[in-house]
Amino acid sequence: MSDYDLIDADDVDTPGDEWEELDVSDDESDRIARVQDREFQEFRKRIKDADQFKVEASVFDDATLGALYKLVQDGHIRAFGGPLSTGKEANVYLAASDGDDVAVKIYRINASDFRAMRDYLDGDPRFEGIGSDKKKVVVAWTRKEFANLRRAQAAGVRVPNPIAVQRNVLVMEFLGSDGERAKRLNEVSVENPETAFEVVREYMRRLYRAGLIHGDLSEYNIVVHDDEIYVLDLGQAVTVHHPNSREFLERDCENIAAFFTRQGHDATGEDLLSYVVEPEPEP
Ligand SMILES: Nc1ncnc2c1ncn2[C@@H]1O[C@H](COP(=O)(O)OP(=O)(O)O)[C@@H](O)[C@H]1O
Ligand SMILES: [Mg+2]
Repeated sequence: MSDYDLIDADDVDTPGDEWEELDVSDDESDRIARVQDREFQEFRKRIKDADQFKVEASVFDDATLGALYKLVQDGHIRAFGGPLSTGKEANVYLAASDGDDVAVKIYRINASDFRAMRDYLDGDPRFEGIGSDKKKVVVAWTRKEFANLRRAQAAGVRVPNPIAVQRNVLVMEFLGSDGERAKRLNEVSVENPETAFEVVREYMRRLYRAGLIHGDLSEYNIVVHDDEIYVLDLGQAVTVHHPNSREFLERDCENIAAFFTRQGHDATGEDLLSYVVEPEPEP
């Protein structure tokens, strides 16, 4: 039986309203791609020839390869494993590092659904003045996911530990074992749906109190790893200041309530919403 322990509330940090600077200027990845020294050229060839990248690597631009090269140099990635997922905007790969396995999420600059991204970025105070340069938007998006993971973690929500971010590439803790990724809620029959629901509900509230709304929360972005519930995919998460944040939150609540109702624990989006937005008791 799974208990899905919550992180102890005493270890939960309540951040203020300061936001991390999201710097989207050219970085080391761009420099590596520009200089194209021999080592980088060899790296590029190796990646492009690697079996697991056959299809995808052809769409990586040199600066993306520069970002991967930098992450290898910095010791965050030692060797690439196979793809864990190929999504609309990003591919996720398993990789070995000097420590535990990691997951490497690579946002595609060209394939990204750029208009959809703008809907989430417009109105987020962290993105004022980024404009509509495609590369900058994707770089900002990747940094935003990194910052959101940190913030979620500080708020006491289990998420993959964010390790490094370089341009459009995010390295995080791999959730899974022996190279097998953890299963999403839609792939398992949930043990203790009532307890699982209570944990997800508490996570949503903690996120909200930390000023964040997931914006794409459903059984597809929640996994069970080591008998604990983890939330994934915080790229599109917006701050409560976003003009559509309420709509995103209502949709998240509907998705979650519908899923748990199908699992045998009756819940409504409305009740869930009032739970999530309930004001924090005065200390
Ligand atoms: N840190 C991770 N550990 C294990 N699997 C992961 C990790 N991050 C993503 N995945 C797998 O990749 C899938 C897609 O990742 P996600 O961040 O949701 O991107 P997308 O935007 O493509 O949905 C997830 O559903 C999950 O199965
Ligand atoms: Mg996802």
